[in-house]
Amino acid sequence: MSGSTGDHYDRLAASYDENWAAHNEAFNDWMSGRIRERLDMHADDRVVDLGCGTGIFSTALAAQVREVVCVDPSPGMLAQLPTTSGALVPVHASAEEVASGDVRLPYDQVDAILIKEALHHVHHRETVVAGLARLLAPGGRMLVVTLPAVISYPLFRRALEVFTEHQPDPADIAAAMRAAGLAVTVTYDTYRREFARDRYVAMVRNRYMSLLSTFDDAELENGIREIEREHPEQMLEFDDRFAFVLGRHS
Ligand SMILES: C[S@@+](CC[C@H](N)C(=O)[O-])C[C@H]1O[C@@H](n2cnc3c(N)ncnc32)[C@H](O)[C@@H]1O
Repeated sequence: MSGSTGDHYDRLAASYDENWAAHNEAFNDWMSGRIRERLDMHADDRVVDLGCGTGIFSTALAAQVREVVCVDPSPGMLAQLPTTSGALVPVHASAEEVASGDVRLPYDQVDAILIKEALHHVHHRETVVAGLARLLAPGGRMLVVTLPAVISYPLFRRALEVFTEHQPDPADIAAAMRAAGLAVTVTYDTYRREFARDRYVAMVRNRYMSLLSTFDDAELENGIREIEREHPEQMLEFDDRFAFVLGRHS
């Protein structure tokens, strides 16, 4: 993980769930359902949540299997994993380290790997996807959940442009999985978001997306003024569209 991405998540860790997710249980339930229906898990599956963050979706997976291995390079994020359930097994590592074998998982082979909104941080994605595919047992699944390169969030124009410049195309992720020998499907689902404008602006000011860490304080405040100009309404509503790239080992 590059220093700046690591700093971003370690700084954000304590407020991450508050910012975006835990205050939105409806979204978490919706997303957990979309993930579970695609990963098609069984009680004795060996499951990895790679780039698990604070474990919001690891917890949802753990409801279906005995334990989930939660991998993340940010100690701050891992420290937020729920401790009430022994079902989450933390591993401090990046996707690159797991894919190369530099960090070994508790299992040599796994049945399901979830990578939700983390693959955009990974360097040499094709190599990493190939390394991870080698960890899949026969019948194993790898699910990448990612935003498309063009999003309709009520952010300022430059932020949306920078997002598009850096976000991997789901078609390229699918191609990397195919090159790794997996049978791939790409599907999309959309969640309608609704935020009080003041709350959304506070999230932007708190740099709730890693993308916002690329702007200094003055640029961010200019961006916030642009959001306020473009969105005089009290409530912001927008579509949050996700790509689900599912690779299956034969
Ligand atoms: C947007 S958060 C998503 C967290 C979680 N998957 C979720 O959906 O709530 C991105 C996560 O990717 C992790 N990350 C950053 N670089 C990574 C890498 N090279 N390999 C694996 N995870 C990485 C960050 O530490 C962070 O926890």
